[in-house]
Amino acid sequence: MAITITMGIQKGGCGKSTTTGILAYLLKEDGYRVLVIDMDSQGNLTEMLSEESSNKFVGKSVLEAMQQNNVKDYIYSVDENLDLLPSNNFLATFARWIYTGKTYTGDVIPFTGSPTLILDSLLDLVRDEYDYILIDTPPSLSEQTTNSLCASEFVVVMYECSNWCYSAVPNFMDSVESAKEFGKRDTEVIGILRTMNDVRRSDAKAFNEIIEEDFPELVFQTVITRKAPVGRLSLYGFNENKELNRALEKYKDFYKELVDRVTN
Ligand SMILES: Nc1ncnc2c1ncn2[C@@H]1O[C@H](COP(=O)(O)OP(=O)(O)OP(=O)(O)O)[C@@H](O)[C@H]1O
Ligand SMILES: [Mg+2]
Repeated sequence: MAITITMGIQKGGCGKSTTTGILAYLLKEDGYRVLVIDMDSQGNLTEMLSEESSNKFVGKSVLEAMQQNNVKDYIYSVDENLDLLPSNNFLATFARWIYTGKTYTGDVIPFTGSPTLILDSLLDLVRDEYDYILIDTPPSLSEQTTNSLCASEFVVVMYECSNWCYSAVPNFMDSVESAKEFGKRDTEVIGILRTMNDVRRSDAKAFNEIIEEDFPELVFQTVITRKAPVGRLSLYGFNENKELNRALEKYKDFYKELVDRVTN
């Protein structure tokens, strides 16, 4: 039975997609069977893992998978042990479809179930086939995010060391609590990952320390620093990337902490 983990925070640009992509890579390199779900209409993770334009997946994405309640026909195989349910800009029509039944093509597929359990039901079809399912979310508390939270046992809160990210944390925690109450997976925050930490800035240092004081049990000990090779993963990807080891350095420590927490 797969362990499902969502990476989230409604503040934009905190390293959600980068972290999800790196985790997927490290897990499959360790021999785990991994399914990645891109629940962000930006399609950043889709492009990072597939090395294709997200427009290539119009009609073949997680949106249609949810509308048809069918995973198999929408899986894109990245590697032997790494599958992807891709996304593209049309995922932004997800909420409209839920509440009106209208798809972006003009078809009508009436929806009658629970608006936040669509992804959870979909994943039930394939949980036995993977060791890990990782979900990347958009920078909002939208239907894509609430569905992701309700479909997951665990949530990693992505925390970029800044004031606006700090102010996003309480409402995000409340959303996880609602998913625990409303969903079926006993959703819980497994940790807070400090990302994109700029070691030269005193305000980043302060926000790094404040979150540890607020949530001493939840913060991961590993702090991801702001580093060009990590940023350039969006450009070079994971194959034939000469600076891959430098990009993954800190993330390998986080990976160990995370796997340890979710399996104990
Ligand atoms: N540790 C890092 N060091 C340097 N650059 C980074 C690091 N992590 C991520 N980046 C870069 O910062 C930007 C934001 O990262 P990313 O897209 O992963 O965040 P996100 O939370 O998924 O954003 P969004 O909320 O828009 O989905 C990207 O350009 C990414 O390449
Ligand atoms: Mg993203």
